[in-house]
Amino acid sequence: MSDRGVFDTDVQTLTRFVLEEGRRAQGTGELTNLLNSLCTAVKAISTAVRKAGIANLYGIAGSTNVTGDQVKKLDVLANHLVVNMLTSSFSCCVLVSEEDEHAIIVEPDKRGKYIVCFDPLDGSSNIDCLVSIGTIFGIYKKTGDGEPTEKDALQPGRNLVAAGYALYGSATMMVLSTGQGVNCFMLDPAIGEFILVDRDVKIKKKGQIYSLNEGYAKHFDPEVTEYLQKKKFPEDGSAPYGSRYVGSMVADVHRTLVYGGIFLYPANATSPKGKLRLLYECNPMAFIMEQAGGVASTGAGRLLDIQPTDIHQRAPVVLGSPDDVQEYLDICKKHRK
Ligand code: F6P
Repeated sequence: MSDRGVFDTDVQTLTRFVLEEGRRAQGTGELTNLLNSLCTAVKAISTAVRKAGIANLYGIAGSTNVTGDQVKKLDVLANHLVVNMLTSSFSCCVLVSEEDEHAIIVEPDKRGKYIVCFDPLDGSSNIDCLVSIGTIFGIYKKTGDGEPTEKDALQPGRNLVAAGYALYGSATMMVLSTGQGVNCFMLDPAIGEFILVDRDVKIKKKGQIYSLNEGYAKHFDPEVTEYLQKKKFPEDGSAPYGSRYVGSMVADVHRTLVYGGIFLYPANATSPKGKLRLLYECNPMAFIMEQAGGVASTGAGRLLDIQPTDIHQRAPVVLGSPDDVQEYLDICKKHRK
C-alpha cells in the first residue's frame, strides 16, 4: 500500500467536532469560538510544558533568565494564555481562575454570554518532577441581564454548559463534554490539531483501583478508614484493590475514567472541607464523570448540586465508577446514623 493509502485525509478534529455540535444545536457560534480559543491556549501550554527546561520556564516567578527577561513560572504563563485567549474570543463576560483572587470582568466591547471557571495548570507541585499536569475548565451561561459580576460565577455545577480538561501526560489529551457524553481528543503535534480518538466514553461500572493521599490516614474520618480496610482486606474472597495516586487531579481522574475505580479527596480532621476547589476542580470533573456514567459526590450529596458562596471555596470529593462510589456512600450513610 502506498503511504497515501494510510494517510487519513478526513480526520475528526476538535475544531470540526465543535463546529458540527454548534451547527446541530443551532447556536450563535459563541461557544464554538470560546472552545476554539481555549484549544489554542491549551496547545500553547502543552508546548510550554514540553519544552519547559530548554525555554527556561522553570523556577520562581519573577526571576530573570539569561537574556535578562523576566521568567514566568509555568502556571503564571498558563494563566495569562487562558485569560488572553478567552478574553479575545468575544464570548465571555466573567473569568474565574485559580491564579487570581478576584474574578476577571471582561471589558464591555469584548463581552459575550459565557462564564469560564478554570485552573490553568493543575497539579503544579508536580511540574518540577515532570509528572503529568493539566488544565481544568467549566463553562456556564450568564443568567441575569445586569452588568456581569463575580456573583454570576456562583452557580451550581448542574448549570454547566460544557466542561473538561487537558492532560499534559505522555501525550496531550483534551477531554470534553458539552452535555452529550464525553469525547477524548489527542493532540497530534505534527499538525497542531486535536484528533477525536475516543467517542462517547463510558466509565466501568466497577473498577479495581482506589486513589487518594493515604499519607493523611491519621486524620481520616472513620468512613474513609473503613472503606479502605474493605478494599485492602476484602471479606468476600475477591482480590484487593490496587492503589494509585499521582497527586495531579487531572491525571488521577483521567486514569479513573479510563480504567475505572474510585478517586477521593475527602474532608478530614485538619481540612474539614477537603482541599480541592469546587468551581474549577470538583465541578468540571463531576460533570465529566456523570456524563460518562459515573458518580460524583461530596460523601453526603451530589457535588453538582452545591450552591457556591465563594469563587475559591473547597469541597470534599469522591468520584468514579458507580458501584465503587456507591459502596463508599453506603458506608458514609451508616456512619451518619
Ligand atoms: O489542587 C491541586 C492538587 O495538586 C490536585 O491536582 C491534586 O489532586 C491535589 O492537589 C493533591 O493534593 P495532596 O498533595 O494533598 O495529595
